[in-house]
Formats: sequence, structure tokens, C-alpha cells
Amino acid sequence: MTAPRPLIAGNWKMFGLGPAVDEARQVAAALTARPAAARVAICAPATLVERLARAVEGCDVIVGGQDIHTEACGAFTGDISAEMLADAGGRMVILGHSERRSAYGESDALTATKAEAALRAGLEPIICVGETLAEREAGRTLEVICRQVQGSLPPALAGTAFAVAYEPIWAIGTGLTPTLDQIEASHVALRAAMARTLGEAGRSAPILYGGSVKPSNAAEILKAKEVGGALVGGASLKAADFLAIVRAAG
Ligand code: PGA
Repeated sequence: MTAPRPLIAGNWKMFGLGPAVDEARQVAAALTARPAAARVAICAPATLVERLARAVEGCDVIVGGQDIHTEACGAFTGDISAEMLADAGGRMVILGHSERRSAYGESDALTATKAEAALRAGLEPIICVGETLAEREAGRTLEVICRQVQGSLPPALAGTAFAVAYEPIWAIGTGLTPTLDQIEASHVALRAAMARTLGEAGRSAPILYGGSVKPSNAAEILKAKEVGGALVGGASLKAADFLAIVRAAG
């Protein structure tokens, strides 16, 4: 059996004005000139999704968003729906990112409902889990992330394309990364939790690592057991850095 292609997804967060489209264009051009072993995605601010989708049309770059509402439409000022994201050219969406969990109180249950909404619109969800530093220091990492998986992955994911991203909160944007042993322990535990939650479907979806992935550490992280790709924040904003991480996947 051939291993599924890894997924390298950029998370631009709330960064990027018009000129940022050029970074995506550079990524697309490089992948056209030399195709990557990995699938490559850029999850952009909602305002850039349509421009990015046009800029990379016909290239091997998937454009995605970073959040959606649970409903298809309605009186929800400021929100966008899965259908709107798909209509703008998005094909993926990050859900349950720790920044949304902490800043907006998003729960596992809400994340699961958003995942259902994503599937309804044909979007591929990337569902994020991760422990705080206090939880890690208390020895609770595996318990916390497995509980998050159980609560955030709806049964509807079985048989569809999706990914889970393991993002230790203390590693996001800090330059700190867990040891390879710690990454492997979390990913192996997540794999078991995904299989318990979704059965066979939980055995094949990629588990991305996220948190201070950069060109200098990507290759060894991507080789770790049960690491099926990366969710990349800061280092995804510049085409050269992002491409170096994409190439590190093989
Ligand atoms: P970082 O962010 O790569 O800047 O640490 C990762 C993320 O939040 O998805």
C-alpha cells in the first residue's frame, strides 16, 4: 500500500493584504515547474480567498479558509459560511484552531458542528487539537488531545477527506517545538483516538504537526512516526520559506 501524500498547509492567520497574493503565485509557479510530493494548501484570510483561488487556478495549490459559521446563511453579522468559502474558491478550512478556542471560547462540540458544515459544502476540514503548557507540565497531554479528538470529530467525517492537526499551544508562534519523541507520542495516541472515534476512517486521515515549523526543522519533524504533514503559521507567509518546508516533505 502506498502512503498517502503528506499535506503541507499554510495558515496565514490575520496577515496579508493584496500584495500577499504574489507569495501564493510564487508558490504555485514553483510547484508547476517542479511538482511536490506533498499536497499544498494555503488557508488565507477570508478577504483573500477569492483572489488567491484565481491566482493559483490550474496549479497544484489548494486554497482554504480559517473558520466558518455552522449555518449556511443567516443573521450572523461578521461571519462567513462554509458555502460562502466554497463559493469564493476555498476547498479546505481550518477548524478549532487554539486561537479560536481561546479567544472565542470555541468548544469541541462547536468544532464538530463546524466540521459537519464544512462537509456539507464540500470543504476538507483540518481539525486542530493541542495542549497548553500547564496541561503538558501536569502530564495530561495525551488525555487532553485524545478528548479533543473524540469531541471534535463528528461521525460524518468517516469516508471523507479530512486531517487532524496536533498543535501544542505553547509551540505556536514561540519558536519552541516538542522533542521528536513527544511529537511521536502525541501522534500515535491521536491515531488510536481517531480510530476509536471513527473506526477504519480514523486510521488513514493525515495527522499534521503544527507549531513553529520552519525550514530548519521541517524535514526531521515530517519523518516522525504518524506525522502526515504540517500546519505552518509564520513560516507560510513567505513563499521561499513555505516552499522549503514543502520540499522537506520529499
Ligand atoms: P506557527 O503557527 O507556525 O507560527 O507556530 C502554527 C499555527 O498556529 O497553525
